[in-house]
Amino acid sequence: MLHRHALGDFPRKPHTALREAGGRLLMEQMITREGFHGPYSILYHRLPPMQESGVESITLPGFAPVEPAAEQPLRRRHIRTQNLPPAGDYLTGRRTLLISASLDVGVAKPVENTRTFFCNGDGDELWFVKSGGGVLESVFGRLPFREHDYVLVPKGTFYRLTVTPPGATLLCFEGRPEIKIPSEYRNAWGQLSDYAPYSHRDFGLPTELVAYDAAAHGPPPFAVVMKRGGALTRHTFEHFPLDIAGWDGAVYPVTFNIHDYQPKTGLVHLPPTIHTTFAGTRFVICSFVPRIVDYHPQAIPCPYAHASVDMDEILFYVAGNFTSRRGIDSESISLHPAGVTHGPHPGTYEQSIGTQRTSELAVMADCYDPWRLTAEALRLEDPDYHLTWLDPKPAAGGWRPE
Ligand SMILES: [Fe+2]
Repeated sequence: MLHRHALGDFPRKPHTALREAGGRLLMEQMITREGFHGPYSILYHRLPPMQESGVESITLPGFAPVEPAAEQPLRRRHIRTQNLPPAGDYLTGRRTLLISASLDVGVAKPVENTRTFFCNGDGDELWFVKSGGGVLESVFGRLPFREHDYVLVPKGTFYRLTVTPPGATLLCFEGRPEIKIPSEYRNAWGQLSDYAPYSHRDFGLPTELVAYDAAAHGPPPFAVVMKRGGALTRHTFEHFPLDIAGWDGAVYPVTFNIHDYQPKTGLVHLPPTIHTTFAGTRFVICSFVPRIVDYHPQAIPCPYAHASVDMDEILFYVAGNFTSRRGIDSESISLHPAGVTHGPHPGTYEQSIGTQRTSELAVMADCYDPWRLTAEALRLEDPDYHLTWLDPKPAAGGWRPE
């Protein structure tokens, strides 16, 4: 949903006949958002996309269906995803860690590739490529991705991710009803404004349609796993489901590399949402990138203690020095729920005065809907994280837990 894009063949007017050489009439398909009032794309299939030869319910343990764990004490959480062993492909290796009414968070560390396609009917997906690279193949074409790219995949897209051996580490958001570019970054004409932290030029678009390749895609039948209502079904097609002659529209996957995000710095500390990159109705997703920090001579660049009482907050740490957090490493996810104040670890607040730059690289999300941990997240959790704010040298008489 960036701007209009087009690949391949399509008729001069929508909803008119398009025939291939030999006279075959192509089947037009509209993918529309918000009923028929939102952005849309029109695709031209060589065979009707309704021609399925089978459908069955399936489960992918750890990914879907998934339920929150029974016990959810209100405390600051630390999920050590660096301890999740690489396994499976982009679907079988996907692990859902945090669930909310509007934004789920998971991690995948695929070490193999699969013929199976996926279609998320619950929400838009935003993959963040912590390490590795590969290509997304979809009905909209080929879209290569590389380390530190976001890959935004619209709801309803038939696609698969193929990673370059030996694998990749991927963070994955599923946002409902959508994940979009914040409207405040656009002018009245829909163009990204010069105030936005990125421009149209920063986004990678599908470059070419996917041609069926027997060696790469295998023989029929083809499987498309679809997700709707948290449940999975496997749909079987006897024809290649990405067999598209052309399309145009404003709904299609894009990539955006986090290093192309233009950070803003203030005289004094700016709230973290100044780093907003993508947004939904009830959440934002933000990029923390290396930058010059606040430049008032008495500025305290380290974040103050804060109680953002309406939103839960998570951070996925990628690289650099995480100056305000103790015990955090690359691939850690911290969850600081509303209702519990959080802030810098002891010592880091004062040490930050006079700092001129930060090298941190991290992805943050704030969500109005409370997150619940899954059983997989509990297995990866550092249970002592909540208590790591205790000063290691407490004042005399200070209370310490046993
Ligand atoms: Fe925070």
